[in-house]
Amino acid sequence: APTLQGLAAARGLRWGTAVTNDQLRDPGLRRLVSEQSGLIVPESELKWDGVEATPGSFDFSAPDRLLGFAREQGLAMRGHTLVWHEQLPAWVKALPPAELDRAMATYIRTVVGHYRGQLPSWDVVNEPIADDGTGLRRNLWLERLGPDYIARALTLAHQADPKAALVINEYGLEGDDPKTLRKRQAFLKLLRQLREQGVPLNAVGLQAHLYANGSGPTTFRTLPAFLRELAALDLDILVTELDVNDRELPAAIPERDRAVAAVYGDFLAAVLPEPRLKLITTWGLSDRTTWLNGFMPRADGLPQRPLPFDADNRPKPATATIQAAL
Ligand code: XIL
Repeated sequence: APTLQGLAAARGLRWGTAVTNDQLRDPGLRRLVSEQSGLIVPESELKWDGVEATPGSFDFSAPDRLLGFAREQGLAMRGHTLVWHEQLPAWVKALPPAELDRAMATYIRTVVGHYRGQLPSWDVVNEPIADDGTGLRRNLWLERLGPDYIARALTLAHQADPKAALVINEYGLEGDDPKTLRKRQAFLKLLRQLREQGVPLNAVGLQAHLYANGSGPTTFRTLPAFLRELAALDLDILVTELDVNDRELPAAIPERDRAVAAVYGDFLAAVLPEPRLKLITTWGLSDRTTWLNGFMPRADGLPQRPLPFDADNRPKPATATIQAAL
């Protein structure tokens, strides 16, 4: 049967999957990930709280293990993520401005330097836009370092690995609703400013955490034009965390699977024609590993079915829809 990465590669794309070392202890998932993906991304192992839990002591053992798996399977691995307001060690969150700036510079130089020449791209800054689209997210980075923290992080990453593609990664940019349109405008304003400043930046990451239940965007009519605006800024486009949550759909599995597959199909129909699209990554490959049961559990407590393969690593309607779209 055709694989997701085989079909993607036939149209010049890569198919990626987020994984953890713990998930990869399951031989069935190891096999599924290595046969279906051309790239992996550490779901959590390459975040600050795992790498520099205490100041100055860096532990790369977990992400290095994932890189070892990628190497032995002939897969690439991309970096996620350097500057974010989540999964930070408490000691970082407690730093006053001058020390925070120094800690960010040391962290980026050390981590990007450790993987220099080995990772094709890095999510350098994650979720910098306010959720309501009213400008930059008022996180500790903005409050203590000012808006320039984004340009500074990108410049530091470029100096540490001039060959890595540098990405700003964001969620909530995919749908046709007013909040999404506002968030896109705030994002484009930031991107234009960075372009004017000549800051190193190669691509935008669309997290693409989608919804099959109407409580979030399920249509993508305006998405192609937004991708063209990104392309006009000479940016590549990566889909970085694709999944389709079914949390508010009725329990019956066939209906849920059909609704989820339809959103995968509509979303891919909107993004696949974009020539600057380079990568599609799902945030997990098997329903057994989805983060959504923790982040947005179903009211009835049933496990969600947001990913292309089911908990036993078997294909679902979404798999066929994705294969047909590719
Ligand atoms: C999530 C992981 O999937 C969880 O296991 C972890 O507990 C929290 O982070 N956007 C991102 C990802 O950029 O890093 C997040 O991953 C999901 C939302």
